Amino acid sequence: PHVLVLNGPNLGRLGVREPEIYGHASMADLAREAAGWGDELGLTVDVRQTDDESQLVGWLHEAVDARAHVVLNPAAFTHYSYALRDAAAQVTTSGLLLVEVHLSNPAARESFRHYSVVAGIATGTVAGFGFDSYRLALHALAHKLSA
Ligand code: DQA
Repeated sequence: PHVLVLNGPNLGRLGVREPEIYGHASMADLAREAAGWGDELGLTVDVRQTDDESQLVGWLHEAVDARAHVVLNPAAFTHYSYALRDAAAQVTTSGLLLVEVHLSNPAARESFRHYSVVAGIATGTVAGFGFDSYRLALHALAHKLSA
């Protein structure tokens, strides 16, 4: 199975950006680790990041057309992008899995982070475990696909 691991705005700044919240490792580190986890799980993992909403919507359309499952960290778009939600909904309604992930636990932070417009159409959500949120999401995907 093919999995697109899609990351939204400011996540290209990982390692530099608010390290006390997001840690010291970079998006390149995440891409390398995620490829390794994918190998262990029999998943082909493709890690991407963009600051652009339109690009992220396009990648979700690509997932539907290519029959790829998705691990999605929508970053700040989580909290207000209905366009992203509508694109993500096409993934799950076409029978593919989509796991929403967050490095931090948005529910424990500012109130504007408490609501996710994506959560209601996701297969499930993993939040609060740093890079392990992605590892756990890939495990959950692999487990569900083999069930
Ligand atoms: C985030 C949480 C969001 O609230 C925030 O806007 C981000 C990162 C996370 O991974 O913890 O950019 O999605």
